[in-house]
Amino acid sequence: MPFEIRAIESAEVDDLLVADQRGFGGAPPRPGASRSWAAAELDRTRVAFDSGHIVGVSRTYTFELTMPGGAMLPAAAVSWVSVQPTHRRRGVLTQLMAAMHDDARARDEPAAILTASESSIYGRFGYGVAAWRLAMTAEKSRIEFARPDHDDGSMRLVTLDEAVVAIPPVYDRARHTRAGMVTRPEFWWEQVFWEFMVGQAKASFVAIHADAQGNDDGYVVYSITGEGAGGLVDRRLTIIDMQAETPAAWIRLWRYVFSVDLIATVSAFNLPVDDPLRHVVVDGRSVRVDFVNDHLWLAPLDPLAILGARTYSIAGRLVISAHAADGTTSTVAVESNADGTFCVATNEEPDLVCDAPVFGTCVLGGNRWSELAAAGRLEVRRPEAVALADAMFLATPAPALLSFF
Ligand SMILES: CC(C)(COP(=O)(O)OP(=O)(O)OC[C@H]1O[C@@H](n2cnc3c(N)ncnc32)[C@H](O)[C@@H]1OP(=O)(O)O)[C@@H](O)C(=O)NCCC(=O)NCCS
Repeated sequence: MPFEIRAIESAEVDDLLVADQRGFGGAPPRPGASRSWAAAELDRTRVAFDSGHIVGVSRTYTFELTMPGGAMLPAAAVSWVSVQPTHRRRGVLTQLMAAMHDDARARDEPAAILTASESSIYGRFGYGVAAWRLAMTAEKSRIEFARPDHDDGSMRLVTLDEAVVAIPPVYDRARHTRAGMVTRPEFWWEQVFWEFMVGQAKASFVAIHADAQGNDDGYVVYSITGEGAGGLVDRRLTIIDMQAETPAAWIRLWRYVFSVDLIATVSAFNLPVDDPLRHVVVDGRSVRVDFVNDHLWLAPLDPLAILGARTYSIAGRLVISAHAADGTTSTVAVESNADGTFCVATNEEPDLVCDAPVFGTCVLGGNRWSELAAAGRLEVRRPEAVALADAMFLATPAPALLSFF
């Protein structure tokens, strides 16, 4: 029997937090901790009840997703998904996903996006891996930059109180420069960033880069952990958040983290796959990749609107037939030429036919269509279309979600 699904009201936020803690097996919230992320946009919560008790939690937030070319796509950002251990594998999540997608469609959001606790969950609901994240570790002693630093800007360390004011505007400018990036609303920063991500580190620091004119154009937030064992430094600097408006500022931040003293190791867990560090050091092999994991998942709710919101790397014309997450099919003629991008619904024979996860995987340019064709997951009706699609959908810089929600 289906469970009751509805949005919760502010009096029920405490119950939501308890259900979230049980669903994820986490620690209870610290007394007095921020609830800004929990209490926002409650009309977008979709919570499952059994006999009046919460048995499943889910919600979406009103986000913008940066598209290749810089347009902002309205997107339903799915978050807080959990089902109580007592009610798993009884279809609760399936009901919640349908409810969230219905709501997003009613709001004319062409895409739903999320980050996943496990990569095996969301393909069945129409999601594909639109952008990957790379984690890396490097021993500081092995890192030598190949060229001298010609930066004419400056770095400064700020207090956390100063950072609360200074870094959100930098993030907001930086997110426009890369496909796959998303909004960080004020209510996100307070609870998710300052409370959860930074607040859990005992020693955390914020360094901001300003350009030669004194305008802030990048920052890095990092923690330092570990001890000096037997008098030898064995401490780790972990990058919590690094953002920059320009490639030059990004490199400058790398130089900075490798210049911090009393550190043996530098690590980062959410870098774009085109991170340039290995190209700017003498020994690229000393930049060790720990993992490359799925990060941004995208489900199309309106494939035509998504295709029309991005730009294409070269001129060309393709006809793509794609399923949306609800199984409906759109056949779209995508044309890019000197006058711009034109996407229209068509009855023409498609060149490529894909399901919703493959569409979500390829649409931002974070994966090549040819990879999916090689994997047997793309139906190719016109073989020349695959290489053309690879070239047209290429996005520079590589799509990445340098955030999470
Ligand atoms: C992941 C989770 C929300 C699934 O909820 P659920 O109500 O058990 O899911 P459903 O019963 O609707 O399952 C739907 C289908 O997905 C499959 N599925 C569910 N969770 C899965 C998982 N973790 N890995 C692989 N498959 C999974 C089910 O087997 C089922 O398959 P079927 O349709 O072939 O029978 C739940 O297990 C959970 O709360 N996990 C811990 C918290 C978490 O990881 N949340 C996700 C955050 S991104």
